[in-house]
Amino acid sequence: MKIAIPMERREHEKRVAASPDTVKKFVGLGAEVILETGAGNLSSFSDQDYKDAGANIAADAVAALKDADIVLKVQRPLTKEEGGIDELSLMKKGATLVSVLAPLQNKEQVAAYAAAGIEAHAMELVPRISRAQSMDVLSSQSNLAGYKAVLDAANEYGRGMPMMMTAAGTVAPAKAFVMGVGVAGLQAIATARRLGAIVTATDVRAATKEQVESLGAKFVMVESDETGDGEGGYAKEMSDEYKKKQAELVFEHVKKQDIVITTALIPGREAPILISDEMLAVMKQGSVVVDLAVEAGGNVTQSKLGEVVETANGVKIVGHHNVPSRLACDASALYSKNLFNFLQPMINKETAALEMDWADEIVKGTGLTRDGKVVHPLLTEGGN
Ligand code: NAI
Repeated sequence: MKIAIPMERREHEKRVAASPDTVKKFVGLGAEVILETGAGNLSSFSDQDYKDAGANIAADAVAALKDADIVLKVQRPLTKEEGGIDELSLMKKGATLVSVLAPLQNKEQVAAYAAAGIEAHAMELVPRISRAQSMDVLSSQSNLAGYKAVLDAANEYGRGMPMMMTAAGTVAPAKAFVMGVGVAGLQAIATARRLGAIVTATDVRAATKEQVESLGAKFVMVESDETGDGEGGYAKEMSDEYKKKQAELVFEHVKKQDIVITTALIPGREAPILISDEMLAVMKQGSVVVDLAVEAGGNVTQSKLGEVVETANGVKIVGHHNVPSRLACDASALYSKNLFNFLQPMINKETAALEMDWADEIVKGTGLTRDGKVVHPLLTEGGN
C-alpha cells in the first residue's frame, strides 16, 4: 500500500499532512510512504527528516501521486477549473483521499472526486463521539488557533499583559474577553490567563459557564431562558431577542476591555456578528480585537480577512488567514496524528492494505464518495 503526501499548494497554507512521526508509524504498519520534495519545509520538516523516518521523496507531485493508494492532504486538491496544477487528475482511479474538503462549499469538486473514481473522506466531518476524539482535526487545529489568537493580540497590543510592579511604577494587567468558548475559546482563556490577563468569557451554550470558571475566568452571562445548545455539542442560532440582550451586555462590557478574542461559529451558517460598529466605537484606543471567525464571515463587523485594520478611534482588528497554519509545525504534527488515528484501525496488519469499514459510523460520517458516486447524506439528501 502506497501513501502519498503532496505539497500543499493553496494560498496561506504552510501545513503538511504527515509528520516524520506519522511516517514512521505508517512505515511500521508495512506501508510505503512517499512525499513530494519540500512538502514539509514550511512546517520545519525537511526531506531528510522524512527519509530518516522511512519515507521516499518524489521529485514532484506527479511522481508522488502516481499509483498512490492513499493520498493525505491538509486542504482539498486543486482541480482543473482552478488553474495551475490539476492535482485531482494526478490521482489514480480507486485512490482514497483523506483531507479537509469543505464539501458543502465545494459540491462540484465532490462530484469531480466521484467522477474520477476517488474515495474521498472529509476529516472535518468526523463525528463528535469519544472514540473519534483523537481523529478530530477541528479540535486539534482550533486549540492551536485559540492559543495563537492571544499571542497575535499581545503582539498588536502596545502594553503588557501581566501586572508588573517595577521601581518605575506598576503596569496594570490587561483585561481580555473571549467570546465563544468552544475548543479555541477555552485555549484562548487558558493562554490569556497564563500571560497574566484578567479574563472574562461568554457563550450561548449552558455548559460553558462551568468550563470558563474552572479555568479561573469570569463568565459574562446573558440573562435568558434560551440556551444555544444545538446538535453534537455545537451552537444553534439565537433568537433576535436574545441577540439584542447579548448586544446590550457586550456593549457595556467591551468598553472596559483591552483585548477581545471572538471565536463564535454556527455549523453551516455565517458566523454571528458579536462586535458591532457601535461597540467598536466605544472601545478604548489601543485595544485589540482578534476575529478568529473571519474566514466564516466574521464575528466583528469591521474585520477584514488577511488584514489588521485600525478603526478611527484606534482599535486594531486582527483578521488573519488560516490561523492554525501560523503554527505550522505543531499544527501539522497534530493534524497528521489525527489522520493516522483515523486510518490505523483500518489497516490490515497482515497485508498492510487499507480496509475501509463502511459500516463504521466514523467512515460513514466522513465518506463523501464511493464507487464513482457521491454518497454522503449531507450532499445526497440536500442537507447543509
Ligand atoms: P465551534 O467552533 O463550532 O464554535 C465556537 C464557540 O462559539 C462554541 O462554543 C459556540 O457555542 C459559540 N457560539 C456560537 N454562537 C455564539 C454566539 N452568538 N455568542 C457566543 N458564542 C457563540 O465550537 P467547537 O470548538 O467546535 O466546540 C463545540 C463543542 O463541541 C464544545 O463543547 C466542545 O467541547 C465539543 N467538542 C466535542 C468533541 C468530541 O466529543 N469528540 C470534539 C471537539 C469539540
